[in-house]
Amino acid sequence: MPGAGPVTRPGERATVRLRDGGPKEPPRYAPEWLELRERADAAARAQDLLDPLRIRWAAGPRRAGGLVVHDLGCGTGSMGRWLAPRLDGAQHWVLHDRDPYLLHFAAVACPRTAADGSPVTVETRRGDVARLTPDALSGASLVTASALLDVLTREEVEALAGACAGAGCPALLTLSVAGRVELTPADPLDAAMTEAFNAHQRRSGLLGPDAVTVTCEAFAQRGATVRVQPSLWRLGPEEPELTEQWLRGWVGAATEQRPELREHAERYLHERLAACAAGELRAVVHHSDLLALPQPMDGAS
Ligand SMILES: C[S@@+](CC[C@H](N)C(=O)[O-])C[C@H]1O[C@@H](n2cnc3c(N)ncnc32)[C@H](O)[C@@H]1O
Repeated sequence: MPGAGPVTRPGERATVRLRDGGPKEPPRYAPEWLELRERADAAARAQDLLDPLRIRWAAGPRRAGGLVVHDLGCGTGSMGRWLAPRLDGAQHWVLHDRDPYLLHFAAVACPRTAADGSPVTVETRRGDVARLTPDALSGASLVTASALLDVLTREEVEALAGACAGAGCPALLTLSVAGRVELTPADPLDAAMTEAFNAHQRRSGLLGPDAVTVTCEAFAQRGATVRVQPSLWRLGPEEPELTEQWLRGWVGAATEQRPELREHAERYLHERLAACAAGELRAVVHHSDLLALPQPMDGAS
């Protein structure tokens, strides 16, 4: 799975097929990988995008039950663990994912208190983002997603944008891969690996590094104001395990996409892993966070 990285052992993938699923069943994201990336995601998130949201909510009518936040493709719930304690007031989180196993983790580990000590409650909804409707988001204060847009298709992003715009609900869509990686020290194969990885991300109609552009267009066409800010992973000696697992997944996806790279990839990965183990490798992995503010609807916050 592009962007998901392998789990703990070489050759083991970050995603596995659901036990009962057929070949069409989407692969499952390994909770271990989602846990491994959570700290880097938290450090990368564009906090400045929260201010326009607070201004929007302050200008709207006060809602008796507090904020209602829908987290799409919640996985094990890292977005809620980052955002809920940064917002004041009571919150109700509606966690969406197509994977019931991950939803269970997310519900259990959802924060229970807001920044000011107000209660945070949670419910889960199993479903596909492609089927999201404005009705499903009725009364929502915010839609969030993290590391989701790049694994969606254009049609799924259109459905998401249509549902948010139809419900007049802001969307904070974070940690989408931007298709750029800076490795230090540099290697002549870096560019070929990056190109192959990006091509792998775009396979089968997935948006990969085009996700932010396509999502901006989808929201803008529906009258929303869109802002984008960088959210960079800065990997290095402080995150050796994540750096190693990201590297294995990145090179693995690139060579799966371009088998002709295999001949050189072994040397490349070996040297990169040695540099990582020696604390000499640094990688900046570019992501983007996006805030879309649709036209407010009467009475909506
Ligand atoms: C890369 S993981 C990110 C999980 C979590 N948001 C995080 O940041 O740790 C992508 C998540 O989106 C879910 N997902 C992918 N496509 C989906 C779809 N079409 N509908 C619902 N969930 C989807 C996956 O099951 C997975 O939990």
